[in-house]
Amino acid sequence: MQPQDIIRRKRDGEVLDASDIAAFVRGIGDGEVSEGQIGAFTMAVYLNGMTAPERVALSLAMRDSGRVLDWSAMGIDEKLLIEKHSSGGVGDEKITLLVIPLAAACGVFAPNLSGWGLDYCGGEIDMLDSIPGYDTAPSSETFMAAVKSAGGAIIGPTPDLAPADRKIFKVRDVTATVESVALITGSIMSKKLAAGPRGMVITVGSGSGAYMATPDDARELAESMSEVASGAGLPSVMLLTDLNAFVGTAIGAATEVIETVDFLTGRHRDARVTDLTLTVTAEMIVLAGLETDIDAARALAASRLKDGSAARHFGLMVKALGGPADFVERPADHLPAAAVIKPVFATESGFVAGMNTREIGLALVGLGGGRKLPEEAIDLSVGLTDFRQVGDAVGPDRPLCTIHARSEAEWETAAARVRAAVQISDTPPAPLGPIVIERIARSP
Ligand code: URA
Repeated sequence: MQPQDIIRRKRDGEVLDASDIAAFVRGIGDGEVSEGQIGAFTMAVYLNGMTAPERVALSLAMRDSGRVLDWSAMGIDEKLLIEKHSSGGVGDEKITLLVIPLAAACGVFAPNLSGWGLDYCGGEIDMLDSIPGYDTAPSSETFMAAVKSAGGAIIGPTPDLAPADRKIFKVRDVTATVESVALITGSIMSKKLAAGPRGMVITVGSGSGAYMATPDDARELAESMSEVASGAGLPSVMLLTDLNAFVGTAIGAATEVIETVDFLTGRHRDARVTDLTLTVTAEMIVLAGLETDIDAARALAASRLKDGSAARHFGLMVKALGGPADFVERPADHLPAAAVIKPVFATESGFVAGMNTREIGLALVGLGGGRKLPEEAIDLSVGLTDFRQVGDAVGPDRPLCTIHARSEAEWETAAARVRAAVQISDTPPAPLGPIVIERIARSP
């Protein structure tokens, strides 16, 4: 069957056979399916969805576009290999940069395949690409050696690992086809399965800063991914998160790496980021069998954060993948900085009552920190930092955040967008609820 026949069938709402899906994905890998055809296919899937068996077939076909890592010769206890992922959220992806070294510091081996920025949400790989020398697409052998020496390592899809995701991801980013349960399932699960783990923890966000609008949508995505994990014989824990507010204080590439290092070294720790990081890491520790009790696992993670081991493992990961050996000690000396760095103030005094987090993510895209074309290079220095959280006091003398821009004109456009996205009230709002709102665990 020709690619256009498969697209037509999905366009007309038909259910595709696993063999058709496999053939289409194979064509992407072979270069026989064009970017235009990928865009048409993803839009047809976005509009018409996929059944559970189709989603499984898509995930497996995308995984099989490359190889699945075999750890048996690495001298690692394979039950300790646990993956982590975020389904996407404004400021949320940096949690991977915190969790992987922290889990490693607790004895987990964490091979992690992540992604780039996607539409209005950032991506781990853009963040890590801001570190000079860090190779986000190394050979599988280099990646496995980095996991063994540092305990965890984060890279993106490579020509070897989930290569179909690389192509589909870049097209979805710029064709308004991101928010699809089927496409997110395929993208995430192909990468998780290619890394060859023994279990996985995935945060599934909902709210204005996430691809899933409501907790019900997030639950559907979580069920979809856990079904694929179980089908592949792996236990999974899905944590549903509330992403109606900014996660942490920064978005951008270099700006989020600085926030990561500040967090790991204890220079600044946001309470919600700490909660989410410890919760995810504790689940990984339990899945790896290093603790049976979740509270004990959380206490272990908290102690490894406090004693600096997580920061040390981050440094080991950076060095193992080609970055500077002294990165954790002097991150700002190595990262690119924007030309214009200035605070933006609210026009009225009051308290942050809420925010349209998606709009804030789009302000970053406008600054040059997100893509408008597949494979477009982005500016890794731009971003927002020191973002005020719901409940914080702001005003003409109290900034909403600091904007890092390439020019005064881009700074002004982003400032207007940020001011419009933040709601301010005269009285303090109810405090934010917990960031993790539900847990779905499934064994194979
Ligand atoms: N993360 C991914 O890797 N893929 C998606 O589609 C969304 C989040």
